[in-house]
Amino acid sequence: MTAIQTGISICTASIRDVSSIMRLEQVCFAKDSWTLLDVILVLTLPDEIHLKALAEDGTMAGFAAASIKRNENAGWITTLGVFPSYRNQGIGSALLEACESSFGLPFARLTVNINNQPAIELYQKKGYQQIDLWRRYYRNQEDAIVMEKRL
Ligand SMILES: CC(C)(COP(=O)(O)OP(=O)(O)OC[C@H]1O[C@@H](n2cnc3c(N)ncnc32)[C@H](O)[C@@H]1OP(=O)(O)O)[C@@H](O)C(=O)NCCC(=O)NCCS
Repeated sequence: MTAIQTGISICTASIRDVSSIMRLEQVCFAKDSWTLLDVILVLTLPDEIHLKALAEDGTMAGFAAASIKRNENAGWITTLGVFPSYRNQGIGSALLEACESSFGLPFARLTVNINNQPAIELYQKKGYQQIDLWRRYYRNQEDAIVMEKRL
């Protein structure tokens, strides 16, 4: 477990966290949120990273997941979310950095909705650069920016 600031720690999420993660997905992504099956798979399959940020009272403040793709020399961040009341305290950054540290590969990659300015700013600040644009990638037909960081 890693302490990132007073009262917040980052540790591996488990199947016991399914309902908190589902709630977070709904709050963060609404119609684009993961299904129950998506969440269960990410928590159980090999080569999946799943990290949660916990507040001092044990409440889940945020969650991030990533897939290790050794054939691409990269880890792909597949979801990152922080509950609104815990935002702007460095938790999103800390979850991102914890994922990157766990990859053991030269690159981190992710997709972000072209209209999601807070997330784009976070990723740029953390050293990610646009490498591609995937048109109509999301369910609502919005475009995805593909970003990469050399670790
Ligand atoms: C994106 C998200 C994870 C950021 O989490 P967070 O804990 O608030 O992020 P941090 O506190 O670590 O912020 C780090 C940087 O991100 C940027 N940022 C965060 N929120 C921002 C906002 N509302 N507007 C602009 N920039 C923002 C800033 O550059 C910030 O650095 P600063 O604090 O020095 O200004 C959070 O807003 C969230 O859960 N959003 C909904 C889900 C989502 O969009 N996830 C990303 C999917 S790709």
